[in-house]
Amino acid sequence: MAKGQRLDKILAHIGYGSRREIRDLCKKGLVTIDGKTVKDSSLHVNPEESEIRVNNEAVHYREFVYLMMNKPQGVISATEDTRHETVIDLLDKQYKSFEVFPVGRLDIDTEGLLILTNDGQLAHRVLSPKKHVPKTYYAEVEGIVGQTDIAAFKQGVTLDDGYETLPAKLEIIKSDTVSAIELTIYEGKFHQVKRMFEAVGKSVVYLQRIKMGALALDEALELGEYRELTEEEIQLLCTYDI
Ligand code: URA
Repeated sequence: MAKGQRLDKILAHIGYGSRREIRDLCKKGLVTIDGKTVKDSSLHVNPEESEIRVNNEAVHYREFVYLMMNKPQGVISATEDTRHETVIDLLDKQYKSFEVFPVGRLDIDTEGLLILTNDGQLAHRVLSPKKHVPKTYYAEVEGIVGQTDIAAFKQGVTLDDGYETLPAKLEIIKSDTVSAIELTIYEGKFHQVKRMFEAVGKSVVYLQRIKMGALALDEALELGEYRELTEEEIQLLCTYDI
């Protein structure tokens, strides 16, 4: 049988408080393992094999969490920042204990789909430049976006630093003095969407990520709201047709 981990570590990981708080819960007789009260929070237990209860409520143990957030403007997609609020600041205490981080970055003024997880392997798979996981953005762009832009993006454009982008798929929703478009890119350079439009002489005035892989932003999420991904949605992040 696997030896497991310390009870206080397990409970702290899933948000039951600090190790000291968990020690106190145990001392008060509020924690049971397989029906037996456990007073010693340093006890080793395998959470996959034993039933842990706190306050008579079964503990739902998991190593990883996967969250979808509708990121608002004004918030930084990093774990820490000295000046601005971060996406981590928007999370409940329950999720902070998992030490999640954003999978890729969105600019401070970009809204929309942001995945947060503590699963480093999944993040690596989604972000790996070799995998070309598509990301789709909705944007409003100053200037009339037309067929020449579709052709230029299909070919790949040259960014301000000389980088040649991979081919990208541009769809025009509205072509006007301010145009509305959807753009799918297969890489993730710094400020890529804004810089691609600059390369064709236009300027992005609103940007929202709406899809990563085959996973679309849940439109029921208000800006700043988040929820856990389902098993199927976790798979969708990593499955897509190019
Ligand atoms: N491209 C940008 O320019 N900004 C983002 O936030 C994401 C993609």
